[in-house]
Amino acid sequence: MISRSGRAPFIGACALAAACATPAPPDAAAPVRSRSAAVLAGPVIADAVDLNPDATIVRYELTAERLPGGSVRYGYNGTSPGPTLRARVGDTVVVSFTNALDVATTVHWHGMHVPNAMDGVPMMQGDDEPMGLVPPGGAFEYRFVADHAGTFWYHPHFDTDRQVDLGSYGAFIVEDPTEPVVDELVLVLDVDGEHHAESPAHGRGALLQDWRVNGEALPTFTVDAGSTVRARFINASSVGYAVIDAPNARLIATDQGLLPAPEPIDGLVLAPSDRAEVELRFGSTGSVVTTQTFSLNGGETALPPEDLVRFVVAGTGELPPVTAWPEHDGTPTPDPGYADAVWALQGSDRTGDWRINGARFPDTEPMVARLGDAVILEVRNVSPTRHPFHLHGMAFELLSRDGIPPARQTIEDTIDIGIHERVRLRVFADNPGVWMAHCHILPHAEDGMMSTVRVE
Ligand code: C2O
Ligand code: CU
Repeated sequence: MISRSGRAPFIGACALAAACATPAPPDAAAPVRSRSAAVLAGPVIADAVDLNPDATIVRYELTAERLPGGSVRYGYNGTSPGPTLRARVGDTVVVSFTNALDVATTVHWHGMHVPNAMDGVPMMQGDDEPMGLVPPGGAFEYRFVADHAGTFWYHPHFDTDRQVDLGSYGAFIVEDPTEPVVDELVLVLDVDGEHHAESPAHGRGALLQDWRVNGEALPTFTVDAGSTVRARFINASSVGYAVIDAPNARLIATDQGLLPAPEPIDGLVLAPSDRAEVELRFGSTGSVVTTQTFSLNGGETALPPEDLVRFVVAGTGELPPVTAWPEHDGTPTPDPGYADAVWALQGSDRTGDWRINGARFPDTEPMVARLGDAVILEVRNVSPTRHPFHLHGMAFELLSRDGIPPARQTIEDTIDIGIHERVRLRVFADNPGVWMAHCHILPHAEDGMMSTVRVE
């Protein structure tokens, strides 16, 4: 294991101790729970029921199926988003998966560090191992340890663009029992009607604004006055960028867990597959989460913000103090100045031909890393659109963008790369196997903008 310098969390004194709420004492024996008592009404995604009585094993049954209705929609256990799966750090997770679709599928655990054979990427398995592809009517048992806390999600990794567009996704939350107990709300974002267009509208510069949150357009949640909600945003859209703003909100975590310290949010860009945890505080008045239109062909636009989620409060109460989230040293790792690999992301909407270093997957050349090393991957976007670059099985730290280090340590599994931007990533090669690395604009990935990192 690599030491991720500065990552060890400690229960930090909140910067202004007097302004912090005292966290409820952690209760290690408590079962995994959603802690959503402050959210009184609204389209809340149900948690899956843990079928294993053991305190350190969670077992869920998950069935991929077509949802009822005239148009083709996919989901899990009858809903899209599928049920939220939860575990605590260190738990063994067993997912008894059944494919009730009429097409083959898999389940990929986006952002989690699972063994390679459990990653839901069928072509990655060697000859001796099960292929991992679950045929129609088939079943597969996924089994792994939830090794770090955060907001993750699951989705197919076969026929990915089509199946995700049709609604195949859900949240996977790994809880850290040492964190303050705060009511939670999982918000899964998707854009309606982006389904597998041959020329994705967004790719032509059109702006997507038809957002659905937990399956609904502009949902309203009723929350208790005086409450704090830990909102876990997941952008499950195949191509849509959301830019989030909200009053009385602080960003507390991104893809791979808590930030070194909470930050104010100001135009938080959520690229496809990005996650963000946001502390929302409510006094006696409700609030609105807004989004801006944002084009992958050129970023933010001058169009006015649109409402994404509405909160109304029940009762009266004071705006609660901010919560004392655990803090840790946020000094970014210094850039060692060399690169183990340089990947150029190439292509254009005009051709729909997306490549890495001139090749389309599976002809791309893998990056090879020794198990236990930290390797430096430089990714240069030489195309005229943005690309959210995602790595399976491991986390990475952003060392710099166009040579400039981030203001604080930034550990992610997906990083948005602007047009002609160059990012340098320090990959923690701590998980053996062959791992996909690709753009999470799913039509781009499907068209070839994918490669692999081989850790051996
Ligand atoms: Cu969200 Cu290759 O995956
Ligand atoms: Cu892309």
